[in-house]
Amino acid sequence: MSPGALRIDLGRLRRDIEALAQIGRDADGGISRPAWSPAHEEARAWLVDRLRAAGLATRVDPAGNVFGRLGDGESPGPVVMTGSHIDTVPHGGPLDGALGVLAGLECLRTIADSAMKLPCTLEVAAFTDEEGRFYGFFGSRAMTGSLDAALAARLTDPDGLALGEAMQRAGFDLALAPQARRDPRTIAAYVELHIEQGPWLEAEGVPIGVVEGIVGIRRRRLTFVGQPDHAGTTPMDRRRDAFFTAAEYATKSRELVIKGGAGRSVTTIGVVQVLPGVPNIVPARTALLQEIRDAEPVVLERLAGRTVAAARRVAKRRGLTVEVDELLRVEPMPMSPRVQAAIEAAAGELGLSVKRMPSGAGHDAQILAAVTAAGMLFVPSQGGRSHRPDEWTDWAAIEPGVNVLLGTLLRLAPGR
Ligand code: GLV
Ligand code: MN
Ligand code: MN
Repeated sequence: MSPGALRIDLGRLRRDIEALAQIGRDADGGISRPAWSPAHEEARAWLVDRLRAAGLATRVDPAGNVFGRLGDGESPGPVVMTGSHIDTVPHGGPLDGALGVLAGLECLRTIADSAMKLPCTLEVAAFTDEEGRFYGFFGSRAMTGSLDAALAARLTDPDGLALGEAMQRAGFDLALAPQARRDPRTIAAYVELHIEQGPWLEAEGVPIGVVEGIVGIRRRRLTFVGQPDHAGTTPMDRRRDAFFTAAEYATKSRELVIKGGAGRSVTTIGVVQVLPGVPNIVPARTALLQEIRDAEPVVLERLAGRTVAAARRVAKRRGLTVEVDELLRVEPMPMSPRVQAAIEAAAGELGLSVKRMPSGAGHDAQILAAVTAAGMLFVPSQGGRSHRPDEWTDWAAIEPGVNVLLGTLLRLAPGR
């Protein structure tokens, strides 16, 4: 059979997606599989079984990344890799990450079932903690040798659980994670299929997005430090209220990002921690976990600098101090023109139109891009919804995307 005539088995893929979606299922219908949690570990074990059942050479590295290889032995040399992640945000949906991993598995199974001679070794990966419960892109960073050990040692989840402790509970050792590093020369290219998580493909009726570049992210904790006081007896002008000061800063930072950004710049404060945390004590400390994202390095840097300066100004004016701790730094990353061209050619062969677009979500592909030719393709998200239980993409929209992934993997094989 010629490579161009191969097609994936949607029914088989659907069964896998539905099975994985049962792991970590919440009462509200969402899915909670935060990295290193029992649900995540159950999903990892399930995935290892599925990869083995497909006849893939399967292994888990010291960073918890799962790999399944097709073609080992027959064609040693650099691999063409695909994949994504099986961790989720709390109360997330069934496709963010899971689609890319299981689509990769389905492509490898399709190739294995065909009589075609493998052009090279193909590998599917599930990278750990893409979502950043502790350390965003932990697994892909470990594999590419860009883990910051000092940062890893002090990171916790928002509830204060240390990364090292969470790994230990899951049977892993943080100190060994750097051993997951692979020589970049062993990876010829990486391509990841993902749901768009935004509204544009659906709105424009385009089935395939070809990602040109992925946003950069700055995530930090800003802790406003004031003083505790009696909430009934302390006059308003004598307080050093950490929450109201943080709130004043929050509003100011939104304005700075909207006015000083580049149209698509965004900021989010997703966690607010107030201490002592009772209504009759003036808050002594308030920590905000804030992200700023932009596709332009200069804009991102400018916004990160301006917002921190604003935090210091607001704190000073109110008689407080502010501590700033950077928790995640990812640079905006262009995707490989060669991978983009391969995706377009694979889509063209199937008669599918494409839209070149940026990604406002972070992805492991941006970490891989530092060491190899990396690219991504998107399928439409219903209503642009993601990071919520009703995240969805129709099977009829998933199928062509996975067939384009299959065609892209075959095109990226070295020597073709
Ligand atoms: C990952 O989904 C991210 O963009 O935070
Ligand atoms: Mn994702
Ligand atoms: Mn996500």
